Amino acid sequence: MRTRYLKIDPLVPELHKIRLAARILARGGVVAFPTETVYGLGANALDGRAVRRIFRAKGRPADNPLIVHIASFQDVQELVAYLPPRATLLMQHFWPGPLTLIMPRSGIIPDEVTAGLATVGIRMPSHPVAQALIRAAHLPIAAPSANTSGRPSPTTGQHVLRDLRGKIDAVVDGGPATVGVESTVLDLTTPVPTILRPGGITYEDLQAVLGEVAIDPVVKGQQVEHPKAPGMKYKHYAPAGEVFLVTGDLDRVVARVRALVAAWQSRGRRVAVLATRETAPAYQAPPRPDYLEVLGSRRQPETIAANLFSALRNCERHHADIILAETFTEEGIGLAIMNRLRKSAANRIIRA
Ligand code: TXA
Ligand code: MG
Repeated sequence: MRTRYLKIDPLVPELHKIRLAARILARGGVVAFPTETVYGLGANALDGRAVRRIFRAKGRPADNPLIVHIASFQDVQELVAYLPPRATLLMQHFWPGPLTLIMPRSGIIPDEVTAGLATVGIRMPSHPVAQALIRAAHLPIAAPSANTSGRPSPTTGQHVLRDLRGKIDAVVDGGPATVGVESTVLDLTTPVPTILRPGGITYEDLQAVLGEVAIDPVVKGQQVEHPKAPGMKYKHYAPAGEVFLVTGDLDRVVARVRALVAAWQSRGRRVAVLATRETAPAYQAPPRPDYLEVLGSRRQPETIAANLFSALRNCERHHADIILAETFTEEGIGLAIMNRLRKSAANRIIRA
């Protein structure tokens, strides 16, 4: 299959390109497009066959449900059985934006989307290209992240092409995603709304509006037999090469990372380090890592979130066998950063 590549202006999307992509979706095709969080791989959410093509292109397990993307508040009605308490309040505060709400599904959603669950995840993205595309298609769009299953989520059109070229109908390239980690998934079917996946809208943001918010234990790395968001049980965000997290007091972390660089290099392995602006100078002196990525500043954790997935892919391009990552406080967006890092490291955590 030839994958069409449509470069688009992220702020003022060219209408003819939006219309072309929308036509592909309306005919049952699959199209990757930018959102404010990561790139999504979209298909008509009301067409089970189209949705199956998403699973095939990504190699995604069929029991992992997809998020349905909409562009106007009225679009929610036909997708849910009823609106749970607090749904409207949350939509008013956080939509459009990186918050996915898990609600009881209606009958028009095919089982392929929800993986047979009685609930559906819905979100309204704020990215102008995503909004224009959903509007032009006149359809709810089911879209997981546009990566091969198990790999770091894509934050640029190039990341999408690297994973899915030849497997999807088109990529709409609107430049880098700004948030860089996926939406927060909030379950509204529990007595207290529960964060199943931390993301662009933080725990603190939700607490300010809701008062009480719970965090599912898997968010902080606890292993459970039947996670509520099926996606949480799979290998995730894994580049080629093994990721290790180094935690503890920052000075000790830096010293330990340097010692680990020397140790792995002496065994002939290529080592990458994911550092921050504050710590990067310490890695300039030998033992120097084979690749050093400065994620951003600890004082602006949003910069770290924005670069995290592309950093993991950069380590891969530099053929790192071992990737050593510093760790972060789990406040604000830090909860999402650490959740993604822990998953990419498959819980390989070293205490400094
Ligand atoms: O920011 C995002 O959410 C991006 C962009 C493209 O919108 N999408 C995304 O989709 O990250 P995906 O498929 O990579 O992750 C969706 C997560 C999975 O962990 C899935 O298990 C969970 O949401 N999920 C979806 N529907 C669910 C449901 N009905 N109940 C529980 N979890 C659900
Ligand atoms: Mg994903």
